[in-house]
Amino acid sequence: MKRRDFLKLTGFVPISFMGCGMGDEFSADKNRLNKTDNFNLKSQNTPLPIPKLLDPTIINGIKKFHLNIQEAHHTFFENINTKTYGIEGTYLGPTLLLRRGETVEIEYKNSLREATTMHGHGMHVPAIMDGGVHQVINPNQRWSAKYTVNQQASTCWYHPHLMGKTAEQVYMGLAGMIIVEDEESKNLNIPQTYGVDDIPIVLQDKKFDSNGQIDYSPNRMEIRRGYKADTFLVNGAIEPYFNAKTGWLRLRVLNGANARVFKISFGPLNKFYQIATDNSFLEQPLELSSLVLSPGERAEIVVYVDRDLVLQDRNTSKALLYILKDDGVGLVDSLPTQLTTLERLKIEDAKRERRFVLNMQRGRMAINSKIMDKNRIDVRVPVNEVEVWEIINPMHMVHNFHIHATHFEVIERNGSARNVLPSERGFKDTIYMPPRSTAKVLVKMKDYVDEVHPYMYHCHILEHEDDGMMGQFTVVSNS
Ligand code: C2O
Ligand code: CU
Ligand code: CU
Repeated sequence: MKRRDFLKLTGFVPISFMGCGMGDEFSADKNRLNKTDNFNLKSQNTPLPIPKLLDPTIINGIKKFHLNIQEAHHTFFENINTKTYGIEGTYLGPTLLLRRGETVEIEYKNSLREATTMHGHGMHVPAIMDGGVHQVINPNQRWSAKYTVNQQASTCWYHPHLMGKTAEQVYMGLAGMIIVEDEESKNLNIPQTYGVDDIPIVLQDKKFDSNGQIDYSPNRMEIRRGYKADTFLVNGAIEPYFNAKTGWLRLRVLNGANARVFKISFGPLNKFYQIATDNSFLEQPLELSSLVLSPGERAEIVVYVDRDLVLQDRNTSKALLYILKDDGVGLVDSLPTQLTTLERLKIEDAKRERRFVLNMQRGRMAINSKIMDKNRIDVRVPVNEVEVWEIINPMHMVHNFHIHATHFEVIERNGSARNVLPSERGFKDTIYMPPRSTAKVLVKMKDYVDEVHPYMYHCHILEHEDDGMMGQFTVVSNS
């Protein structure tokens, strides 16, 4: 980082911020850093919102969650009511805590005036429980995802997946976290007290109009580039703060933006450790100074808090979250050296190779020159067979690639295994595809055969997905 940027990033963490009221200096700096200066930023004294853990009811041994999807008003700026969509609240939704092996029913009620769907991104579930484009929930209707949790501890999320409307509905506020726990994760000596030292962090950017209303109106160019804006939100608050005690702090970071790629780091320049990828722990904590997350990707990271820190985006040199050191000692002061042992797939076992080219067709975003058609199955994948999926981004623009139902391993980037990043050596469901790059991933579709109902794969830049950069596959029996 350039020295100038370093100063800019660290210079405005006010020491006097803790305890006493906001200094004028702080406000001035805030305004300088934000383009949305028509309004007073509520964030000047906004603590980080922590989505509540949703209480389930237990009915016949089944853990049932109920979530209402609704129109709402949310306060992003002082004295301004911004129209939003929310789930059990005014913006985003509560966190669902699921344990491996238990049976859950997640019931969504659609109280919007338009249809939606609700997809469990990262969840390994039968196709009819996936909440993809086919499980439409009409206004005033309910839909349930009912399944037995059948995957490792991980940080996943839920969000709409309606054909052509995903981007707008997510942008209006529909998304929430899913935390999967298992025996291994419970027994690790890592921060795991929700809301105290184990914190969900949903990163987004948002465009507001001059009335402080959410402005989602991409033109053709913005669909190509992805819809990006310069106001950054964490859990729905603009540059909020979080008080943490001395010790390790675990952040479950989700890039919940439509199109922006974040490169997170801490200022004053502080190393941190990544402990998990999208769908699993890394085998050992990985020391990093920055980490790139494209839309839909998650990473669990831990940082040692022994002074005030700012979580920032290095691509823009903008602040995301202030972490203010509180008096007192935290709960976890050391980290394990070994987190897990991953059962890896073997390349030698691969039965076949498939290729997915992120390209365009008749001016629309496509995969293998085909625009998404929900009545077309593009690929039939035999269950329980290892395959190599090659993803090719021949374009000059950023894409990524997400596969439902499965947790894959990245084995090659740009023609070599050596280019696989240490930060992607756990199981993943979404892979960043920089301009003019290729990658190979090992996939195995396990457990759930359904010759009729498809899952989706797509670019998770939501404007691209909605424009047609998506395809469908079924998992078929291999006999
Ligand atoms: Cu995060 Cu197909 O979705
Ligand atoms: Cu998904
Ligand atoms: Cu894309």
